[in-house]
Amino acid sequence: MRPLVLIVDFGSQYTQLIARRTRELSVYSEIVSCLTPEDEIRAKKPVAIILSGGPSSVYDADAPKLPKVITELGIPVLGICYGAQLLAHALGGKVERSPSREYGAARLLIDDTQGPLARFTRGEHLDVWMSHGDRITALPEGFAAIGSSEHSPFCAIADDKKKLYGVQFHPEVVHTKRGSDILASFLFDVAKLPPTWVPLAFVEEAIETIKKQVPSHERAVCGLSGGVDSSVAAVLVHKAIGDRLTCIFVDNGLLRKGEREEVEDTFKRNMKIDLRVIDARERFLTALDGITDPEAKRKAIGRVFIEVFEVEAKKIDGANHLVQGTLYPDVIESVSFKGPSAVIKSHHNVGGLPERMRMKLVEPLRELFKDEVRAAGRTLGMAHELLGRQPFPGPGLAIRCLGNVTEARLHVLREADAIVMDEIRKANLYDVIWQSFCVLLPVRSVGVMGDNRTYEETCAVRAVTSVDGMTAAVFEMPYEVLTRISSRIINEVRGINRVVYDVSSKPPATIEWE
Ligand code: XMP
Repeated sequence: MRPLVLIVDFGSQYTQLIARRTRELSVYSEIVSCLTPEDEIRAKKPVAIILSGGPSSVYDADAPKLPKVITELGIPVLGICYGAQLLAHALGGKVERSPSREYGAARLLIDDTQGPLARFTRGEHLDVWMSHGDRITALPEGFAAIGSSEHSPFCAIADDKKKLYGVQFHPEVVHTKRGSDILASFLFDVAKLPPTWVPLAFVEEAIETIKKQVPSHERAVCGLSGGVDSSVAAVLVHKAIGDRLTCIFVDNGLLRKGEREEVEDTFKRNMKIDLRVIDARERFLTALDGITDPEAKRKAIGRVFIEVFEVEAKKIDGANHLVQGTLYPDVIESVSFKGPSAVIKSHHNVGGLPERMRMKLVEPLRELFKDEVRAAGRTLGMAHELLGRQPFPGPGLAIRCLGNVTEARLHVLREADAIVMDEIRKANLYDVIWQSFCVLLPVRSVGVMGDNRTYEETCAVRAVTSVDGMTAAVFEMPYEVLTRISSRIINEVRGINRVVYDVSSKPPATIEWE
């Protein structure tokens, strides 16, 4: 069994990053909520534990507590921010509100080279990133300060005998220089973990697991979207169970130019996967008729998708497994300690399907991050064009066609979008951009073409860079590419006479307009 580092989540925005960093150090980790029952934590047999930060203050009435099992297991523990305060508080130390809150960059002075600071030198300064309002003001018995900052005398603390450590700053964020060395010290020098987690060994292991999950007389269906996740999941399952897998691709009429043909070409013709393409364009467009509210659009599309998919899947005799391209970040979100967060957008998903259809879920990518999925895809021999595809949202062009979604307006958008992609590819920018696309706005303005007056809609071009879609920066598109895109769209696409470039980052804007 691979040694496991358990990350206990207290509701931090950075919990996933901790998992990310341990993976980069080739150590396998899993995240659990701080509300997980103690015997479940024990049963996982972790070799070390990391406590995440969190938005609470240890003295809040409803603040999450430190599960007792964590200090009872006798294994190394590293608390980060709230995790460090909680450790100190639970073991008899004192935590108080700081007179001045520390947000952003700070300097850590290394006072002693123990535990997570083992790979550093005494007296050395480290640029670290803080985000806290409380601080530790008195240490529990057995603890010593090993690092301090201007406002936190106990910025890094250690009980080296019991292998319990805490850091007030966030080693998992990139703004903490050498943050990985801090985690490496903890994982390798303190917890003596072997760096053995290799995501690529994953492919063979996954194929074996799927073979057991779907015994030889049973079948599976997979909803293929053409995106990276569902594609890799499908190929993986196909490797394991061959033609007992049927993929269903729903053409909802909200796809980009040539997309349906591309998916058919790749999967049916090249990979010889049993692919059924369902033409449901009319159903989706009818359901969207007259809807302009973004949430209403998303809900209508989600509902019709489930209805269409269910009917098609039932036609496949004996199919009792549903393959989904669920990734690790999706799994974590659902176990987060935090209550339901504000709904910004209802994401299109097929979450309701397995229960409705009484199907067993096959989710071979549950343990992987996006780039690990791409690596698995490469191991499976999948083409770069497929694995490097920019993300495309489930509700498709409907959420890029502001206002009424009609076939005529979708056609205009599709043509404009194809020009953007063509120019981006020609300029060799496709791989450096996270997403680039067009949004059709129901805003008409006056133009002049030849000797004639035009009164047509506006198209916004959007291109962003991002690591995970959670935050995004505007891509600084070379001016000549922008002007080429603009002049081509206005000249070649009937229905658009004005092109603008969206220069909003996320947050406060989002990537998609709806
Ligand atoms: P936002 O617009 O929320 O988008 O900044 C973040 C990322 O998620 C994609 N997105 C979706 N993906 N179903 C999906 O599968 C959806 O309903 C959906 N909505 C947005 C978006 O394209 C971006 O990559």
